[in-house]
Amino acid sequence: MANTILVGAQWGDEGKGKIIDVLTEEADVVVRSQGGNNAGHTVIVKGQKYVLHLVPSGVLRKGVKNVISNGVVVDPVSLVGEIEGLRKLGVKVDGSLFLSETAHLVLPYHRELDGAREMLKGKNKIGTTKRGIGPAYGDKAARVGLRVADLVNPERFEAKLKARVKENNEVLKALGAKPLSFKEIHAAYRKAGDYLKPFVTNTVVLLHQALQKGEAMLFEGAQGTFLDIDHGTYPFVTSSNTTAGGACTGSGVPPHRIDRVVGVLKAYTTRVGEGPLPTENAEISDMLHAMGREFGATTGRARRCGWFDAVATRHAQMVNGIDDLAITNVDGLDTTETIKVCIAYRDGKKRYDYLPTDVEVLARCEPVYAEFEGWLQPLDKIRSWDKMPAKAKAYLKAIAELTGARLSIVSVGPGREQTMFL
Ligand code: GDP
Ligand code: IMO
Ligand code: MG
Repeated sequence: MANTILVGAQWGDEGKGKIIDVLTEEADVVVRSQGGNNAGHTVIVKGQKYVLHLVPSGVLRKGVKNVISNGVVVDPVSLVGEIEGLRKLGVKVDGSLFLSETAHLVLPYHRELDGAREMLKGKNKIGTTKRGIGPAYGDKAARVGLRVADLVNPERFEAKLKARVKENNEVLKALGAKPLSFKEIHAAYRKAGDYLKPFVTNTVVLLHQALQKGEAMLFEGAQGTFLDIDHGTYPFVTSSNTTAGGACTGSGVPPHRIDRVVGVLKAYTTRVGEGPLPTENAEISDMLHAMGREFGATTGRARRCGWFDAVATRHAQMVNGIDDLAITNVDGLDTTETIKVCIAYRDGKKRYDYLPTDVEVLARCEPVYAEFEGWLQPLDKIRSWDKMPAKAKAYLKAIAELTGARLSIVSVGPGREQTMFL
């Protein structure tokens, strides 16, 4: 398998975890290169459900190296909890999980600030996961962040943490939030530091050596294209580059070593949190929620749902250079008689074929729809493209063509086996 970047081509939760797990069969290394535990990637193997937040989704296959590289923001206490949770389910990460020395830490004051700033924004809130992601990346950019290398150096950690807690407590007080105890944070995070120490390494060198040996790499994108800090619906975005370019800066693997970009899409659209979603539709939201689907893997929030938005996915193809598409959750449309697809936006007399950059314009845009006939039969037991109903094939081919990339993988259920390759 070629070195592959897998990105979400919508607003996150496209089914990246499931597709990573399927593709990992042929990968040697799986790399998380951005985001943090705001991600929730669901993998279902033999009926057992795993939700991964920081640990790469390659962890469920034996013999695969799993790397949390420099571009990720890591809450050490949360990572320990995740590793322990996996252990309880019989998944061992010792010897197969590697954590970058230069990954930045998410600390309790980041989470508190995230919550306090959201509160202050009131109705203009972003709807973050409140995991402290924005403040942690903010500290990184401001050059005051603590990194994994600090965490595993007790003296340095104590000194740096003390200074940061002091400053952030002043900010928290000014925002009307409660100050935090240095002692408590220090004790809990030092303990996590000792636990994580065996996993800590120079992941740039590790990845470089893997490249030299010709090992196949799979980059597991978190979030999605329209949550990207540069290319998303700013300010209703996350704080990292979720698009393909982020995989290189976030890992130290050079761009010319990337062979392929896979975009993961749902057969419809979902978004969790605030911000414009042009094809949002109450009917499809209610239908999917009634089926027990589309509740967030990290926060449990109901996701907002809408029709497939080909303007957005076409834009995602352009920004990421998507070669291949993996379309998931096709079975979510099994009972829909007429399926709509947004092919352009209209704002008064102006037509848009790509996303307008101004969110206020985007929020006013009206979708222009094309209609497709539904297949009205369950797809979850279908295992080959040849057996797919003609109407489902026509729909999937049309949305791939509108997006401008090759249709390569089709998923009709959350399990590994419910996957077809074209
Ligand atoms: P991620 O963040 O992109 O990894 O996606 P999430 O795991 O947050 O959300 C995707 C949801 O869809 C999870 O509950 C998956 O188990 C589920 N899923 C993925 N592919 C399919 C599919 O083809 N059909 C169904 N029914 N569920 C799917
Ligand atoms: P995965 O990897 C869906 C959304 C939040 C909010 C915005 C900013 O599972 O696809 P943040 O906490 O990052 O500051 O929140 O981004 N968001 C996600 N939405 N899937 C995710 O990850 C997300 N991670 C963040 O809901 O709108
Ligand atoms: Mg998710």
